[in-house]
Amino acid sequence: LSKLQGAKLPASADFHVHLRDGPMMELVTPTIRQGGVNTVFVMPNLVPPVTTVDRALDYKKRLQAIEPNVNYLMSLYLHESITPETIIEAKKRGITGVKSYPAGVTTNSSSGVIDYSLFYPVFAEMERQNMILNLHGEIPSKGDVTVLSAEERFLPTLLELHAKFPKLRIILEHCTTAAAVEAVKKCGPTVAGTITAHHLSIIIDSWAGDPFCFCKPVAKTPADRDALLRAAASGNPKFFFGSDSAPHPSASKRGGEKIAAGVFTQPYTTQVVLDSFEQAVENGVLKDEDITQEVVAGFMSKFGRAFYEIGEEQKEFITLEKKGEKIVEILKSDQIDVVPFRKTQNTWSVTW
Ligand code: NCD
Ligand code: DOR
Ligand code: ZN
Ligand code: ZN
Repeated sequence: LSKLQGAKLPASADFHVHLRDGPMMELVTPTIRQGGVNTVFVMPNLVPPVTTVDRALDYKKRLQAIEPNVNYLMSLYLHESITPETIIEAKKRGITGVKSYPAGVTTNSSSGVIDYSLFYPVFAEMERQNMILNLHGEIPSKGDVTVLSAEERFLPTLLELHAKFPKLRIILEHCTTAAAVEAVKKCGPTVAGTITAHHLSIIIDSWAGDPFCFCKPVAKTPADRDALLRAAASGNPKFFFGSDSAPHPSASKRGGEKIAAGVFTQPYTTQVVLDSFEQAVENGVLKDEDITQEVVAGFMSKFGRAFYEIGEEQKEFITLEKKGEKIVEILKSDQIDVVPFRKTQNTWSVTW
């Protein structure tokens, strides 16, 4: 990626982050800017989930106290206690989106959605208020549905919601399949998809045997990964960056009865995307000349800001360089630790 050596780009925006609470929040929030990011859309799956405007705004204050130089866009967790009145209040008080988790598919999703039609009045109000619906696009494993088919089997729900609420802005979060990319393309301009950094490189074999590559939705086949790479490098504004950085203490990844789902990339978000593009060029999936500054700036910064309608001219810039930096082995505080994706490996460097 010779064109990117020394390139100056607008600050990245990460439209899907898990910043947690308590000691993990204190450990990971200061690393957002290290990844070249100055704007984040914050997931609400705390324990208990963030289902009220007051709690979302309290959470935002805690985040701002740790790192004030980040723009935190906040979300609510779609839950039976959320009504059209909640949506009106949320809009007035500056909440950006509502994340829906299907019940039981991933970390802290026990309070999630079973039947989307129960929320149609909420979606109708969100459409009127111009709020964003963020979909965790998987259906629960049951019968012949497995983690490998869970996303593809969710896509009819996306199409149905879009048909019923054509003006509602919907994001299919963390797309992991060629089928998801096609579904997003097929929808109108109110539907977009986020793509993570790690799903641009890992495949099924990566997480089969490595808990630090295990997340939901799971990484799929090489053909799926290549479809994500092409979407991210296509310059199509329907696809933009959301890292889904999801820290878990290393003990939850190594021991216990169940391995926690989530890949932690926060300090290296922009860097890991560049690493993936570079690897894809080496493997012949992408062409070097396709990875221009404009393409990277679109995917990492401009398209998401435009979709979220926060697209004023970016005043902060980052510089990209490949100069032998290595990803650290672990991040630690007195109370907690977390292992980053691709620990100890070479990566790009980002400076402000
Ligand atoms: C939590 C629970 O059950 O209280 N779930 C979880 O840890 N999986 C939070 C929740 O309700 O989602
Ligand atoms: O892998 C995941 N981890 N997927 C999610 O949707 C949630 C996340 C988490 O919160 O750990
Ligand atoms: Zn999700
Ligand atoms: Zn997530």
